[in-house]
Amino acid sequence: MARGKFITFEGGEGSGKSTQVKRLEEFLRGEGYEVLLTREPGGTRLSELVRALLKDEHEDPPCDRSELLLFLAARAQLVRNVIRPALERGVWVVSDRFSDSTFAYQGYGRGLPLDFLEVANAFACEGLTPDLTILLDAPIEVARERMRRREAATNTSADRIELAGDAFHARLREGFCFLAQANPERIAVVDASKSPDEVWGEVCSQLKRLS
Ligand SMILES: Nc1ncnc2c1ncn2[C@@H]1O[C@H](COP(=O)(O)OP(=O)(O)OP(=O)(O)O)[C@@H](O)[C@H]1O
Ligand SMILES: [Mg+2]
Repeated sequence: MARGKFITFEGGEGSGKSTQVKRLEEFLRGEGYEVLLTREPGGTRLSELVRALLKDEHEDPPCDRSELLLFLAARAQLVRNVIRPALERGVWVVSDRFSDSTFAYQGYGRGLPLDFLEVANAFACEGLTPDLTILLDAPIEVARERMRRREAATNTSADRIELAGDAFHARLREGFCFLAQANPERIAVVDASKSPDEVWGEVCSQLKRLS
């Protein structure tokens, strides 16, 4: 049995990750692959508890370092108990965010040292890296407008991280772009400001990198 492929989607809030993840899942199932979707943080009992902690609106929010360690704890559990066993069974795993989000948010966004993140993240993942990462890149205004519409349509409100200011989101976008430049063989940058169908077309053409 061939090992499954591991594909991750990255990008800021409202860039269209969840939309494209669903399309890829349907497409791969149609092609006859067994597919597992995961989201970060989440996907195991412990990781979902951590997700709730990270999203908790509280007067005593996690400091930058505990935020990092919580994300890594959730990832370690997900990799060890879910992602790695699935890949070994030949399942294709598609994740809505993974390690690059840690570098973008906690590294470029919050300013934690990238060299430490590198070591700590590799430890949490036991060295697992995606076979392909799709970076959905969109201007901040485009993403904000989508978030506004989504919140209106679903009657929800922005969470703690989504509420961070424009300067933070600009650092994030820049951080994701640095990551793509540093890992051109793994990370494909896709213009996410286009229509869902156009973005999907571009995602599809990037899948060729896997063969
Ligand atoms: N290419 C697109 N053009 C216009 N609207 C889009 C596009 N892709 C997604 N949307 C819409 O924008 C909103 C955000 O998309 P989506 O939830 O997929 O983004 P996301 O990257 O998963 O966001 P988050 O990081 O908050 O989970 C949704 O309401 C979705 O229907
Ligand atoms: Mg999403």
